[in-house]
Amino acid sequence: MSYKSLPKVELHLHLEGGAPPAFIRGLAAEKHIDISGIFDERGGYAYRDFDHFLKVYEAACTTLTGPEEFRRLTLAVLEQSAENGVVYSETFLSPDFCGGGDVAAWRDYLAAIEDAAAEAERTMGITLRGIITCIRHFGPEQAKTAALCAAETKGDFIVGFGMAGAELMGRPGDFRYSFDMAREAGLRITCHAGEWGGPDMVADTIRDLNPERIGHGINAAKDLALVDLIAEREIVLEVCPGSNVFLNAVPSWKAHPIKLLRDRGVKVTVSTDDPPFFNTTMTAEYDMLSRTFGWEEEELGMLTQTALDAAFCDAETKARIAKLLEPAP
Ligand code: ADE
Ligand code: ZN
Repeated sequence: MSYKSLPKVELHLHLEGGAPPAFIRGLAAEKHIDISGIFDERGGYAYRDFDHFLKVYEAACTTLTGPEEFRRLTLAVLEQSAENGVVYSETFLSPDFCGGGDVAAWRDYLAAIEDAAAEAERTMGITLRGIITCIRHFGPEQAKTAALCAAETKGDFIVGFGMAGAELMGRPGDFRYSFDMAREAGLRITCHAGEWGGPDMVADTIRDLNPERIGHGINAAKDLALVDLIAEREIVLEVCPGSNVFLNAVPSWKAHPIKLLRDRGVKVTVSTDDPPFFNTTMTAEYDMLSRTFGWEEEELGMLTQTALDAAFCDAETKARIAKLLEPAP
């Protein structure tokens, strides 16, 4: 059976990473940008490993040259999400790819993204909120410009701050200034950790950046005392199993630690990360969890409820989304 029509909540999706390859190819043709090398012969994205993935991702972003491109991108991504039953999505937005971290430029890009979000809410019934992310491999100084963009535009739509990029570059404490700035501005905090780094990276992230949620976090499973700490502190994991399997962060679905983490009391949620890059959708994630671990509507519904509880939006929005998750009478 397929869980396509089950209403879903997604907390971990990179906006540019959701770009359908045909959409990026179309923009490249319009703008005469030659990025043919990032596609395979079937038209999908082509890369060798995680580091190469980041390069291909950044090459795709060179076609997103202004606010209008981000307006179109937002609609294209939300269309895919809505088709897979997603009713609420928290999406990572990177000022580094939207005017290079300049606050005035970022405001223009954000206005276009919000405009598309309002249109998608009207026409597709999906609600979007944004989490601003700094890019780890661009370094701590550049991260401060992303944090400033976040602090300056915090509101009903921009609800969080986080960090993506090459996890093995630097240590979490190098980015403390940016996370403190965002937190002091009232933003909620999440951070990628434990996708490539070991339990020590997850532990340092918790100690130095104090996130409410962790992106991935799967390598915490290698240290059960750390798993217990995560459970006890009720830190929510944004787990992206399809991404982890596709990028070889774990060897297979069967070997994925999401069940161990859940069974040990950790609050786990499920997301797609960068769906067209990993040949996945929220439907495919739910279907594979069901096939691999025997989780059915009850367990999958609990993942969705955990995600809504951990969402960074206001209470009114949460109550509205909660109604959409109720089973039809
Ligand atoms: N940026 C986009 N996808 C990412 C991932 N899976 N890990 C870290 N940074 C990312
Ligand atoms: Zn991610």
